[in-house]
Amino acid sequence: MKDPIRVAVTGGAGQIAYSLLFRIGNGEVFGPDQPVILQVLEIPQAMDALKGVVMELNDSAQPLVHGIVASDDANVAFKDANWVILVGGKPRGPGMERADLLSQNGEIFVGTGKAINDHAASDVRIVVVANPCNTNCLVAKANAPDIPADRWFAMTRLDENRAKAQLAEKAGVLTSQVTNMAVWGNHSTTQFPNFEGALIDGKPVTEVITDREWLEGEFLTTVQKRGAAIIQARGKSSAASAANAALDTIRSLITPTPDGDWFSAAIPSDGNPYGISDGLIYSFPLRTDGQGNVEIVPGLELSEYAVSKAKATEEELLGERDAVKDMI
Ligand code: NAD
Ligand code: LMR
Repeated sequence: MKDPIRVAVTGGAGQIAYSLLFRIGNGEVFGPDQPVILQVLEIPQAMDALKGVVMELNDSAQPLVHGIVASDDANVAFKDANWVILVGGKPRGPGMERADLLSQNGEIFVGTGKAINDHAASDVRIVVVANPCNTNCLVAKANAPDIPADRWFAMTRLDENRAKAQLAEKAGVLTSQVTNMAVWGNHSTTQFPNFEGALIDGKPVTEVITDREWLEGEFLTTVQKRGAAIIQARGKSSAASAANAALDTIRSLITPTPDGDWFSAAIPSDGNPYGISDGLIYSFPLRTDGQGNVEIVPGLELSEYAVSKAKATEEELLGERDAVKDMI
């Protein structure tokens, strides 16, 4: 058995955490020989509800859970954390865009960044889920000057998974047969799930699905607007699939990327090889050796169409950055 790692999760009494915490405890992310200490943060008003979640975690008797800390103090919850999963914040309701949450949720990330900076373990890695996740990540990062830039990730994996599912359904294949599906840019309706670079059984998607109108139309808008469609149908935003995507993100970061494939997460854009402005948290195709070295896959050819889509979502992120300029 290895020494336990400390995994901090914020928004512990919320919907996503209700799935996330138990799956972390199961060992399905960090492995069956990796114990974890769960360090869960909530706001004071939700501490009673969090107590209930902790009771349920205890009642699950998961052998890999070597400790549970529940707190409303970020300095306690992030203490020595090796992973910090930032889920705490408001979800949007019907008719809202994710960017409408900027002012309310952005503010949270100032304090969050500072607490991570001052208390987390020296090897900490941070995954931001709370929306608008790219710009929240930017705010937290800006307030954590001692944490290296390569430790920050905002979640676009749910978009990647949604895109794979749509393509698989259209082509009549399994989602596992769809690879190289990169989401570019913002976790928002401007995102670009680049179907031109994706493969089905090793063949370009555009050769397998020849209905270009569907790819540029229904496919794209379905993925871009999936979050809103779920809110419309469920009355609440996605939760189980969001938790699933957060776990997929971490798994992809700690596992060598299969040869030739890539995965999506938003990372600091500084020095990227695709001409996207520095100083954003932008989603790119990524690969890793699983040892903490993550790189943007270089040398991908982008069509004029893809470049225009990548630029549109960059523009939106520049606007979001401007809106939080007092926080960064
Ligand atoms: P929820 O309302 O069920 O839970 C959020 C929890 O966060 C609440 O319990 C709340 O008390 C807590 N919270 C609020 N402020 C906090 C703070 N400062 N510190 C700690 N906890 C705090 O919401 P949810 O459905 O679990 O969603 C959480 C966030 O994740 C939302 O912002 C949502 O939009 C976002 N989300 C992102 C993705 C993605 O793909 N990136 C997918 C789904 C949801
Ligand atoms: C999602 O994509 O499901 C989440 O970001 C929630 C939302 O507001 O759409």
